[in-house]
Amino acid sequence: MTTAVQPSPGHRADVQRPRFAHPAEAEFAAFLDFYRIAWEYEPRSFPLRWQDGRVVEQFTPDFYLPEQDLYVELTTMKQSLVTRKHRKVRRLRELYPHVNIVLLYRKDYHEILSRFGYGSVDITSLRPDQIERVLLSPAEIQRRVAELGQQISADYAGESLVLVGVLKGITFFLADLARAITRPLAIDYLQLSRDLREGVAIRKDLDLDIRGKHVLLVEDIVNTGLTLDFIVRVLRERKPASLEVCALLDKAERRLVPVPVEYVGFTIPNEFVVGYGLDYRELYRNLPFICVLKREVYEANGNGHLIEGTGQEAAAEAAESSLVATRVEVGSG
Ligand code: IMP
Repeated sequence: MTTAVQPSPGHRADVQRPRFAHPAEAEFAAFLDFYRIAWEYEPRSFPLRWQDGRVVEQFTPDFYLPEQDLYVELTTMKQSLVTRKHRKVRRLRELYPHVNIVLLYRKDYHEILSRFGYGSVDITSLRPDQIERVLLSPAEIQRRVAELGQQISADYAGESLVLVGVLKGITFFLADLARAITRPLAIDYLQLSRDLREGVAIRKDLDLDIRGKHVLLVEDIVNTGLTLDFIVRVLRERKPASLEVCALLDKAERRLVPVPVEYVGFTIPNEFVVGYGLDYRELYRNLPFICVLKREVYEANGNGHLIEGTGQEAAAEAAESSLVATRVEVGSG
């Protein structure tokens, strides 16, 4: 089973884009779309005052963000407007204490991101304008990981299993997936080294003996399939009771060798992605979302101390999504 990356909410063909009352609202919708945060435009009006049983004042917040159950009212700095909006928000909170609402100034748009799991963008000193495209938001990843966990738990009903993760890209996916699986399980890790002359080899082997065990090999991303093909062949020789593969991301169009992937999180286009464990020369693993970075980031990193090589080489490598084939020492996956 697989899920292709869906267009973000405002770009879906089946969703009619609302007619926004104000350009700032269109701008905010575009901002939410960029970060793949789900939104609804003016979905609900809250009566605020009644006279003779009739509603004489109501408040319709501009946006509703269902993933956080949060209403957002946009405001400008204009004092008369701000005062009026503050009064409405206060009244709404009195009458509907369970409703979450924020009054948001344009300069504070980015503050809202931390609520949606985007906090560490600052920590990794990545500026939002260095992100070409957010491919998967933290909420989308977590939803899909939960689904995979459910499916795997059902498929292995009555069994226990060994999750084998391939370091290091697997760090976060394996941790989240393991907690979404409700079967008894052991966790073990493999690490590979890749060398143009020597080929792929095991740098760190499993600690556990997997003979007779149900093994689920967990990979971050399958590209050409060469890495997976190598690992599957090695593990099969050890005679597990069964061996299946779960990959968070599948660049299916890049496949060179057929590999049996039973569980796929998302099928993604052929672009070099980072975040949620995936690195570019050891950087960006701790982004809680998955994105494509602008070329200039790789160029800048080419001169950084975590990275060898020139910026130009680095950008070319990233753009071609062919790190594995072209780099002599690619780090640890
Ligand atoms: P394959 O052998 O071509 O299937 O490549 C798989 C390995 O290449 C993964 O385990 C990653 O380490 C790396 N890789 C492939 N595509 C990407 C990417 O878009 N971002 C980060 N690493 C990648």
